[in-house]
Amino acid sequence: MKRTLYKSQDKYDLAYDAAKLFTGLLDLSIQTKGHAYVALSGGSTPKLLYHALVEKYYDAVDWSKVDFFWSDERTVPIEHADSNMGMAIEHLLKPLDIDPSQLHLLETEQPPAIAAELYEKDIQNTVPLFKGIPLFDIILLGMGDDGHTASLFPQTRALHEKHKLVVANKVEKLNTWRLTFTFPLLNHANQIIFLVSGENKKQRVYEIFTQQNKMHPAAQVMSTYGQTIWLLDEDAAQLI
Ligand code: 6PG
Repeated sequence: MKRTLYKSQDKYDLAYDAAKLFTGLLDLSIQTKGHAYVALSGGSTPKLLYHALVEKYYDAVDWSKVDFFWSDERTVPIEHADSNMGMAIEHLLKPLDIDPSQLHLLETEQPPAIAAELYEKDIQNTVPLFKGIPLFDIILLGMGDDGHTASLFPQTRALHEKHKLVVANKVEKLNTWRLTFTFPLLNHANQIIFLVSGENKKQRVYEIFTQQNKMHPAAQVMSTYGQTIWLLDEDAAQLI
């Protein structure tokens, strides 16, 4: 198991390089298996990727053969400005005219533990199993400047979950509950793509790629059977 690293000039080139890779891998899954299951990441970085997909790669994939999930979500309504689902629908899924039946939304209006349970059931019932665990074709992830990924933040309980695939995770530093994939589900994916840009991430990237800190949540995400690809812009990759 290893990480593959690609560097792009800046966040705009990164978005287009990521769009090319993402659609290439997605099309491969569809050609070989007839369908693809994808988990989108949250945060702000994916927005430029979504714009690149809509602008330049809208016809690179048969989008009708893709089911969309989210690797984490905030406990807010979908209309809320912080909603990862809301952002993806506005900037990617609506412009691509994706049928709502292909979107697997988290029920964030439920109590967090219930929402996590319901989401895990949806994943179990939809995504094909490999060795008993749902195998996503592609999981897109970002990384925070504290080394978190999805909503697996440092010093939170979800980091220690070995069996559940989706959990509600209390993030004390944000004083909020988050819903997140756990390492057992993330690391089972066929293709894990990290999309990381910005100078504020460079130190964590350095610590992860020099193995100086294997405890960062983002450092603990590594595909067991497939590829773990890191796409960085020059700012985030400055120290490596
Ligand atoms: C979230 C994300 C989170 C995100 C990182 C990076 O819900 O916030 O899933 O893990 O990917 O915080 O966020 P930016 O892309 O905004 O830097």
